[in-house]
Amino acid sequence: MEIRLLLLLYSISLLCSTAIPTSKITPRFPSSIVAQPENKLSFSTKTELYDEKFFTQILDHFNFHPQSYQTFQQRYLINDKYWGGPKTNAPIFVYTGNEGDIEWFAQNTGFLFETAPLFKSLLIFIEHRFYGKSIPFGGDKEKAYSNSSTLGYLSSTQALADYATLIIDLKHNLTATDSPVVVFGGSYGGMLAAWFRLKYPHVAIGALASSAPILNFENITSPYSFNNIITQDFRSESENCYKVIKGSWQEIEETAAKPGGVEILKKAFRICKNDSANSLEGWLETAFGYTAMTDYPTTSNFLNPLPAYPVKEMCKAIDDPKTGNNTFEKLYGAANIYYNYTGNATCFNLDDDSDPHGLGGWEWQACTEMIMQIDGSNAESIFPENEPSYNDGVEFCNYEFKIEPRPNWITTEFGGHNIHRVLKRFGSNIIFFNGLRDPWSGGGVLKDISKSIVAIVAKKGAHHVDLRFSTDEDPKWLQDVRRREVHIISKWLSEYYHSLADSSNW
Ligand SMILES: *[C@@H]1O[C@H](CO)[C@@H](O)[C@H](O)[C@H]1NC(C)=O
Ligand SMILES: *[C@@H]1O[C@H](CO)[C@@H](O)[C@H](O)[C@H]1NC(C)=O
Ligand SMILES: *[C@@H]1O[C@H](CO)[C@@H](O)[C@H](O)[C@H]1NC(C)=O
Ligand SMILES: *[C@@H]1O[C@H](CO)[C@@H](O)[C@H](O)[C@H]1NC(C)=O
Ligand SMILES: *[C@@H]1O[C@H](CO)[C@@H](O)[C@H](O)[C@H]1NC(C)=O
Ligand SMILES: *[C@@H]1O[C@H](CO)[C@@H](O)[C@H](O)[C@H]1NC(C)=O
Ligand SMILES: *[C@@H]1O[C@H](CO)[C@@H](O)[C@H](O)[C@H]1NC(C)=O
Repeated sequence: MEIRLLLLLYSISLLCSTAIPTSKITPRFPSSIVAQPENKLSFSTKTELYDEKFFTQILDHFNFHPQSYQTFQQRYLINDKYWGGPKTNAPIFVYTGNEGDIEWFAQNTGFLFETAPLFKSLLIFIEHRFYGKSIPFGGDKEKAYSNSSTLGYLSSTQALADYATLIIDLKHNLTATDSPVVVFGGSYGGMLAAWFRLKYPHVAIGALASSAPILNFENITSPYSFNNIITQDFRSESENCYKVIKGSWQEIEETAAKPGGVEILKKAFRICKNDSANSLEGWLETAFGYTAMTDYPTTSNFLNPLPAYPVKEMCKAIDDPKTGNNTFEKLYGAANIYYNYTGNATCFNLDDDSDPHGLGGWEWQACTEMIMQIDGSNAESIFPENEPSYNDGVEFCNYEFKIEPRPNWITTEFGGHNIHRVLKRFGSNIIFFNGLRDPWSGGGVLKDISKSIVAIVAKKGAHHVDLRFSTDEDPKWLQDVRRREVHIISKWLSEYYHSLADSSNW
């Protein structure tokens, strides 16, 4: 059995982990080609999207020990093509980078590029420390990831302080100290955007936090909610689809236990190697989970290349009468949509641990502070029934990093309990977007907190779908979401400019 890592905000999901793993677990992340943005502004290559820059960043913002003064090169991407400039105090839109290569996130955040001409905004995408090219300890990733004394500098609070330091320095360099800053992010990046607004109100006037499950900590959200939403996504397509998947786990296990059973599975699922048939269940769960997460209304290529509404396509494969009552043929057809939409796969390597977007550092974050329990599966779940187990995760983290997780730290530092009551009279200018088909939406803010801390909820939306490049096929609800976001941000800016004018004689 293994520890399943769920990407994009992939949290250490403690499902199936009954033994201490004997080898280093790396995220299962099927190789995929980075998305080519398809959009109306026709950015044909990524070089048109942004320039790459580096900033000398302080290693430790919270300590005056001489070692803390070490620095590292932090990467950020910049696009000033549409910027109105400092004379008009034109705005600066900053993407607060997630747990991976910042270019990948920038290329999947069309919203900022497409609205830049309207807002005349400067665009900045800041890479999160320890990811991509922003590696402390002289850029030596092996050294930076050696053990807890080097990885100790990888935390959300350090990352937020990096963003504040860089933004303040950049504004100074551009003589744009009065330009308003709005922060944006999706997933973990969305959590950082929301927290940045709460912690650094003097640096950012507002935040758009897309699919940010800031309530997935400390049992505020049920550990069953994640798998319940995946279940609901498939079940709402067809009851048969749900039943076939739900019934398949036992059939797989029974087959695997039979003599020659592994060979049967290997053949049915076109698996490359004999030994990797053990990983079959995790491989299928990954396909269902990520497809639910990226159930976008148009063809996409975020985690893997996928058709429009891929959950529907998977269920079509499962419900296909041609496959009769052959469960494995049905499941193979579904998996083929997630793992082989381009049709290039000759066979499937279930133990594929390639990590094209450099997300590996999340393992450390998920073991220290980002303790988001999502592993519960009840009797109705599409996955095998599973009681959430915090202790399995602790065991893994002790083994892997020789550290104790701090499951209460995030809510201590950023809050989360009774968020409506707490933020009702504190804080302002945050948009929380969630798509209800996204399994992470269970941990999101789904109700307005105040007039200016608002929840935008899209019933048919998936993981940060609002931030993606628009296409001609976008449904009306998605166009409406983006319009509403633009409208709210415009209002924040206009209020800011009014108070800037007023404050000149204060
Ligand atoms: C941790 O890694 C650093 C850098 O590679 C090394 O200098 C140090 O000795 C290691 N510490 C332990 C306790 O292994
Ligand atoms: C600001 O300018 C200084 C001096 O040229 C430079 O070292 C620094 O990297 C710049 N800051 C940013 C955020 O680019
Ligand atoms: C969550 O709830 C369970 C059951 O009530 C409890 O055992 C566990 O300690 C709680 N976890 C946290 C992080 O508070
Ligand atoms: C896989 O297993 C089958 C029988 O179980 C065996 O004949 C075959 O040689 C094995 N293949 C590899 C590559 O080990
Ligand atoms: C599946 O179909 C075959 C052939 O049509 C039939 O013999 C078998 O009993 C069916 N199995 C189940 C579980 O319905
Ligand atoms: C996969 O197939 C598509 C055409 O179906 C082709 O354009 C693409 O280059 C192939 N990708 C790889 C990695 O071979
Ligand atoms: C991938 O899809 C192509 C085209 O449909 C198909 O020929 C190929 O067998 C599939 N690969 C696997 C491993 O099933």
